[in-house]
Amino acid sequence: MKMHISTFIVVSASFLPSVFCWGSLGHYTVAYIASNFVTNATQAKFQGILNDTSADYLASVATYADSYRYTDEGGYSKPFHYIDANDNPPASCGVDYSRDCGSEGCIVSAINNYTERVQSSTLSSADVTLAAKMLVHFIGDIHQPLHDENLAVGGNDIPVTFDGKPTNLHAVWDTSIPEKYAGKASLEGAQTWATTLSTAIKSGSYKSSAKSWLAGMDISDAVTSSMIWATDSNSYVCSSVMPNGSTETENVDLSGDYYAEALPIIQLQIAKAGYRLAAWLNLIATGSTCIQG
Ligand SMILES: *[C@@H]1O[C@H](CO)[C@@H](O)[C@H](O)[C@H]1NC(C)=O
Ligand SMILES: *[C@@H]1O[C@H](CO)[C@@H](O)[C@H](O)[C@H]1NC(C)=O
Ligand SMILES: *[C@@H]1O[C@H](CO)[C@@H](O)[C@H](O)[C@H]1NC(C)=O
Ligand SMILES: *[C@@H]1O[C@H](CO)[C@@H](O)[C@H](O)[C@H]1NC(C)=O
Repeated sequence: MKMHISTFIVVSASFLPSVFCWGSLGHYTVAYIASNFVTNATQAKFQGILNDTSADYLASVATYADSYRYTDEGGYSKPFHYIDANDNPPASCGVDYSRDCGSEGCIVSAINNYTERVQSSTLSSADVTLAAKMLVHFIGDIHQPLHDENLAVGGNDIPVTFDGKPTNLHAVWDTSIPEKYAGKASLEGAQTWATTLSTAIKSGSYKSSAKSWLAGMDISDAVTSSMIWATDSNSYVCSSVMPNGSTETENVDLSGDYYAEALPIIQLQIAKAGYRLAAWLNLIATGSTCIQG
């Protein structure tokens, strides 16, 4: 079964447009950071739900939602990967749940839904497993600033180049910048990046701010909690993604100065995503964010 799923991902990946999600590298890294900060009880609970006692139990499912959305069965979940903030960057940024979460759902309603479903004692184990996979993915995606932005389809319609190759602004944030820094997506590369960022959280440059990343987290109000994350992430659209306006990046090669300025923000957002995912899973499993170093 496991073999079958990974074969499917490899095969289907070649048909995917370069859309809508931290690339695999970002998602694996978020998952490994979370694995570093969950409690033993949380680890046991989610290894049970995911039927995987390996150290990769979160990373192995972190990109599942990106293949599921392209299946007939999972097509309904496409809008769950983002929230289309109808703000006005770079002049003003902001997310408004009632304005921006469409009738078919968005990443905030999805985090709310799957947080409820993963805790259900009446759903089938297959539904609970799906809920866990979706949470691991969406708590990653919500930290990519362009997943919290409507302009130009979250930057997908802004053509740019990166290291000479044509791509778009969204894909540069999802994939090009992470891979230029940490290498092509692999579990090993992600683990190394996750170790670096986890050390920065425990004892390095993020140590003094990491606690503040958990502010406002309330497991009984996932909409309010994840709106805090979406608003935080969306603010980087104004400050870092297009501080000089969207047209300033159009048809520009972003692998030089732009890369250098964006990389620290991407590192920070990946670190926050992993740390918040750990705290969220701890809340689900134990009722406390109690981060275990
Ligand atoms: C958690 O598990 C690890 C390895 O299995 C063990 O070394 C550690 O003492 C445990 N921590 C707690 C707080 O029980
Ligand atoms: C759990 O995993 C084991 C070994 O990988 C497999 O044999 C078993 O069928 C799985 N159980 C479920 C419920 O999927
Ligand atoms: C909640 O998740 C289930 C299973 O994926 C899905 O069928 C349903 O549409 C979701 N509901 C909302 C409100 O997102
Ligand atoms: C925005 O403009 C400022 C001032 O010209 C420049 O220093 C900065 O690199 C630009 N940033 C981006 C992301 O284009």
